[in-house]
Amino acid sequence: MIILGLYYGHNASACVIKDGKVLINWELERHSRIKHDYGYSQEFVNKTLEHCNLQWTDINILACNFPKAIINWIGRKQPNKLPPFKVIDTAYSESIEFNVGDGTRGVAVNHHLCHAASAYYTSPYSSARIFTWDGGGDSENASTSFGRGNKIEQYEGLVKENIASYWSSICFNNYRMKRIHEWDPGSGAGKIMGLSSYGTPDPNGELETKLRQDLALAPDPKNFDPRARAFNQCEDLSDTKRFRSQNVAATLQRYTVKRLVSEIENIYQGETNLCYSGGLALNCIANRDIIKRTGFENLHVPPFPNDTGLAIGAALYVWHHVLNNPKTNEYFSPYTGPDYKVGLPDVQKVGELLRAGKIICYYEGRSESGPRALGHRSILCDPSIPSIRKILNEKVKYREWYRPYAPIILEEYAEEMLEDYNKWSPYMQTSAVIKEEYREKLSGVNHVDNTTRPQILKKEHNPILYNIIVASGLPAVLNTSFNYQEPIVETPDDALLTFANMGHVDALIIGDKIYEREN
Ligand SMILES: [Fe+2]
Repeated sequence: MIILGLYYGHNASACVIKDGKVLINWELERHSRIKHDYGYSQEFVNKTLEHCNLQWTDINILACNFPKAIINWIGRKQPNKLPPFKVIDTAYSESIEFNVGDGTRGVAVNHHLCHAASAYYTSPYSSARIFTWDGGGDSENASTSFGRGNKIEQYEGLVKENIASYWSSICFNNYRMKRIHEWDPGSGAGKIMGLSSYGTPDPNGELETKLRQDLALAPDPKNFDPRARAFNQCEDLSDTKRFRSQNVAATLQRYTVKRLVSEIENIYQGETNLCYSGGLALNCIANRDIIKRTGFENLHVPPFPNDTGLAIGAALYVWHHVLNNPKTNEYFSPYTGPDYKVGLPDVQKVGELLRAGKIICYYEGRSESGPRALGHRSILCDPSIPSIRKILNEKVKYREWYRPYAPIILEEYAEEMLEDYNKWSPYMQTSAVIKEEYREKLSGVNHVDNTTRPQILKKEHNPILYNIIVASGLPAVLNTSFNYQEPIVETPDDALLTFANMGHVDALIIGDKIYEREN
């Protein structure tokens, strides 16, 4: 049984599942090299099948999300990108079967049910409460449901206060962050979340009230112009050194935490496990408060909580829920991109480079699903190198001054280094506090409020990376995505080209090859 999962909205993606095994799951942007790329691309689908040695005729079921609005939009703007198969326009609340047109069976799955499936079916739990929240999809922006064995039950699509749209609107209109393309909902939320740690939320709540009043003008169609919902008549907050810019970010962050905790607490009915997905689940600061302040003991946020997870969500839903196949509760490996067969790295040598204080571009195995680099397409170094954050921001990644960096920490040392953290953090989705005695050793990943966003690494999840860190002798390594003002590198050629533009990086590892920069 071969299922092809597709999603065509922003952060478009494709996935192939064969007899329950994920053969591939990756994003259009990694192939097209356009960040948050969207729409249907026949070339991308062909490439996806080619990487699995499959053809379209091998596909038994097409699993997708078919919001009519997206198809209409693509048809209007880029008719040459329309899918070559039948599109249904029947309303459906959860999922609906349709005929693809050539005898292939089709299952369309609701946007938020895809998010729910992407969270629950990649979790290690056999039962869980499921919550999703984002900027909107299929006329809803949230959902609740229960995971019970291989089924998602009592699914309820919801419309809640659109906090995600507050973030995209304020990034675009007030912090003056560019959109990558016309249909980009705003790429800066993660940046402003980083800035928020520098600010102080307003003490008396006036700023919070003003933010809500201004930004809540959406989604009334007459206010659809995003500028109509800008904060304080488009007040310019683009000077991020100003206290005002920082305090507005801090106030929005505090409000997000408050609302999220309240929503999660409202759905708590004595369960232990929570699976959480949707674009808002990328807010790792807020995610920490779920563990801290609600009744749930365990939190699973998948590596693709935003719309990058919708293709795999649809495919997993069909495999488990529709076709009634069991859920195994195994660790979901995020390394599901194409395999370019680059060989295995020299663990000792890479460890020595890190120990010697070198900054390295590290490319190994298959690329990661979702927006985070998790040690297969990463820039790695010792987090205690003096001013390493400034060096990376100003000379390697060319990012804003306030952007923090994150560590990979071996599971055995997490307790020693961190407090107030989610023990299940294989995908860098929850922030943590660095204990005082480690703040200097981890200075490069210690944010202004002494928090960090760790990837906590178990040996069995990635033994090569684990052994490299052991060989480095470092307590943790700084890990940031291997890219330069474009999507994370995908192919070995992308890696070579990107490394060539990074004069301050000392070495490039591509599988079994090491390129050391002279001088
Ligand atoms: Fe979404």
